[in-house]
Amino acid sequence: MLRGKLVYLRGIERHDLKLLHQLENDEELMEWARFRPDNTVSMEELEKRYEDELKGNSPTRRTFAVVDKKTGKVAGWCSIRWWRAFYTTADVGLALAKEFRGKGIGAEVTRLLTGLAFDQYNMHKVELFTRADNQAMIRSAERNGFRVEGRIRETLYFNGKFHDGVQMGVLREEFRKAG
Ligand SMILES: CC(C)(COP(=O)(O)OP(=O)(O)OC[C@H]1O[C@@H](n2cnc3c(N)ncnc32)[C@H](O)[C@@H]1OP(=O)(O)O)[C@@H](O)C(=O)NCCC(=O)NCCS
Repeated sequence: MLRGKLVYLRGIERHDLKLLHQLENDEELMEWARFRPDNTVSMEELEKRYEDELKGNSPTRRTFAVVDKKTGKVAGWCSIRWWRAFYTTADVGLALAKEFRGKGIGAEVTRLLTGLAFDQYNMHKVELFTRADNQAMIRSAERNGFRVEGRIRETLYFNGKFHDGVQMGVLREEFRKAG
């Protein structure tokens, strides 16, 4: 368990899939957090996606439920992954239900995941990718020492238009200085 001031992160359990299913089919949320052509995912697909993690068999990804300490409710989920075993760069992602946004939770979850990457997994660098207009994600990352490393032009397509993304990254010392 990773403890913060506002939330704690615990590994996802099978019973979390119901909420993940609800959130991952939420059109507004998934327009920010996922870039597939539609915003739907079946329970069967989710079960398949998380099966290895639920059994403790995933060497390249950890997904956590973000639990709001005040209410005890699951506020969203987040994950850290690396593309292969022994990679030294990790990639983080997070998404919160609307009612939990704008309260400092996103910045805290980014800090917890980035700290996990450096202090427990001995990663050299942490990266994330988001929509170029996702100010809440960009600021949550900047607060933790991330900087925009590049703007990826017209790489996302939804709602009849192409959209820019940004690639962000932070090194261990930059993360320390931000804390
Ligand atoms: C992105 C997300 C995780 C950020 O978490 P959050 O809890 O809302 O953000 P915080 O309250 O911690 O705020 C972090 C910073 O962003 C700023 N911010 C928050 N919401 C904002 C908004 N809607 N517009 C502009 N800035 C915003 C805050 O002021 C703060 O900046 P500051 O430190 O300069 O004051 C959350 O908004 C979310 O889940 N959004 C939908 C899904 C998503 O976009 N996921 C990321 C996909 S890559």
